[in-house]
Amino acid sequence: MDVIRGARELRARTDAARAGDDEVALVPTMGALHEGHRSLIRRARRARTTVVVTIFVNPRQFSDAADLTAYPRDEQRDLEVCEELGADVVWAPPTDEVYPPGVELPSPDAGHVGDRFEGASRPGHLEGVLTVVRRLFDVTGPCTAFFGEKDAQQLFLVKRMVEREALPVEMVSCPTIREPDGLALSSRNVLLQPEEREQAGCLFLALGEAAELVGRGERDPRTLVAAMAREIGATRLARLDYAAVIDDRTFDVPDHLEPEMRARALVAVRFPSARLIDNLRLPSVT
Ligand code: PAJ
Repeated sequence: MDVIRGARELRARTDAARAGDDEVALVPTMGALHEGHRSLIRRARRARTTVVVTIFVNPRQFSDAADLTAYPRDEQRDLEVCEELGADVVWAPPTDEVYPPGVELPSPDAGHVGDRFEGASRPGHLEGVLTVVRRLFDVTGPCTAFFGEKDAQQLFLVKRMVEREALPVEMVSCPTIREPDGLALSSRNVLLQPEEREQAGCLFLALGEAAELVGRGERDPRTLVAAMAREIGATRLARLDYAAVIDDRTFDVPDHLEPEMRARALVAVRFPSARLIDNLRLPSVT
């Protein structure tokens, strides 16, 4: 496995892979790799594919300096994980290889979807994600890129960027990997204090309750949102940031669930030590 720091070196490596008839598969991460990241790398790992994992804690997607400082980092362990899973290349660049000083990189517009949910709670976050993903695509030149459904709004906006800019990248979305109590794996989970961790299953409970209500015939998103808010509200250390139901195709909030819709419930919760997000596809309605 090659560990590369420079942008040019990475490009030379992926050019060589393509010249040798390999596809290039990209798995972008911010490190502190867990089972969710592992599932993406495993999915990318196929014959005749050069798997590139990037590890870069992107300062432009943090709206809060303390959050950036607290973000867990363990490069040595991450490299061991990548090696074990058969990644071919890890790009772990210093900041000025991603953002060369004095260079203005394309900064894709997150549009009105970028103002909601994560965009409203973390101003500039989604624009920062799009900017870095665009840069990772430019430098790596991937044929396929692997992203988790765990970050549904991020996934939606990256897919839309690929469509709008006709980028020659096939997007592969991967299901959310969870702990036995339903908590979605996240690098931030290690920041939770034991009591917070015990209560962190409330996000999945809330989402599951919304799904159950739909299964029992509920069609009003407001009722689903109220049920999710109640579940979070009943959890002592949790503070609801937002709960919402959206149509996956547009990320808009529908008035009613309709048969042709692909509805998804979203939830974001603040614990004293970390903010967590999660989402779940809701059953189709007839
Ligand atoms: P990070 O949070 O490290 O996540 C990297 C990728 O792993 C993302 O596509 C994310 O959706 C996916 N992922 C995280 N937790 C997961 C889980 N429990 N199950 C399945 N997939 C999961 O998301 C980012 O980094 C950054 O915004 C990035 C795209 C790298 C840009 O900086």
